[in-house]
Amino acid sequence: MAVLVTGGAGYIGSHTCVELLQAGYEVVVLDNLCNSSEKSLERVKAITGKDVTFYKGDILDRERLNEIFAKESIDSCIHFAGLKAVGESVAKPWEYYENNIAGTLTLVDVMRQNGCKNIIFSSSATVYGDPAMIPITEECPKGQCTNPYGWTKSMLEQILSDMQKADPQWNVVLLRYFNPIGAHKSGTMGENPNGIPNNLMPYITQVAVGKLPELGVFGDDYDTPDGTGVRDYIHVVDLAIGHVKALKKIEENAGLKIYNLGTGVGYSVLDIVKNFEAANDIKIPYVIKPRRPGDIATCYADATKAKEELGWEAQYGIKEMCADSWRWQKNNPNGYED
Ligand code: NAD
Ligand code: WQD
Repeated sequence: MAVLVTGGAGYIGSHTCVELLQAGYEVVVLDNLCNSSEKSLERVKAITGKDVTFYKGDILDRERLNEIFAKESIDSCIHFAGLKAVGESVAKPWEYYENNIAGTLTLVDVMRQNGCKNIIFSSSATVYGDPAMIPITEECPKGQCTNPYGWTKSMLEQILSDMQKADPQWNVVLLRYFNPIGAHKSGTMGENPNGIPNNLMPYITQVAVGKLPELGVFGDDYDTPDGTGVRDYIHVVDLAIGHVKALKKIEENAGLKIYNLGTGVGYSVLDIVKNFEAANDIKIPYVIKPRRPGDIATCYADATKAKEELGWEAQYGIKEMCADSWRWQKNNPNGYED
């Protein structure tokens, strides 16, 4: 039996493919490559010495999905495919709702028609909005999202939860990621953003490699220890391992489960800059800029539930996250284009 990994050529998906293959799973990837390269899957094969079956295609394409379910013995799906750029989602809300929501509705419909009712969904800490409690437990109420991207995650959580309630044969695991950074230790796989990065770590690595002149720090007047925003950065390999653990949970007939995947530790923007500089012996010039609209001061997880119920806990600390992000960027200044 195989796991269908939608969006498996992307940043988190490709790292998850490595962990799945190393745990002995058969992996089938569906990706339209709108934000990724098939080369990531070549790297997955090189690292693991195992094969991945790749289908280029879209989660909105019902025929293509049916073809995959007809050819492969798929019993569960890890669903990463989606658009994820917050700013772009404000400019193109329809495209985000269409791709992420209509795409997921099509996927789960084809799944159930083919008797496959096990899904792990990539959600986000963004569903908590400006969180009602810190650290954030899964009991924290969902909040007001500040952008259409966030709403797609919040709405899809609701849709998948309602489906599971109506048909308890479904096993649905909603994984709320905090801030994934880092890269595979080999330095051959990592995050590969198009254009100027929106997220902090790829921006820092592009400053480090000389592609961008300096980092803009968005606000130093938050109510945080140094005034800059605090987040829960998690190594992408830890996140990937979390998916393997969630799959084991599904195999025990999980029903509906929600887990935060974070480290439980908050770092400020300046903490990240300092740790990156120390880990890699590189100076990161920065300037303080105004706050970025929609940003919150502090966001970090209480990850106790994942530890207790999945037996999962983040292993990598901030030094490894900084060193591994840099190794990838340094070895691949143009991402997978090299
Ligand atoms: P990514 O862009 O690297 O990966 C997403 C993949 O999905 C890409 O390979 C893209 O080509 C593919 N894709 C998009 N739309 C598709 C479609 N209609 N059909 C087929 N393939 C499609 O992003 P990522 O960082 O690996 O994120 C993976 C998932 O995790 C996304 O759902 C994202 O929203 C979610 N997430 C990411 C973060 C983060 O900070 N990276 C945080 C929380 C949640
Ligand atoms: C982190 C911190 C910024 C860039 C986003 C999405 C969220 C999830 C993860 C997908 C903040 C500061 C950033 C820069 C900066 N994505 N920063 N200069 O905003 O916590 O979360 O990615 O699901 O939904 O909203 O991550 O990496 O953009 O920012 O000062 O050039 O770094 O203000 O405090 P964020 P981020």
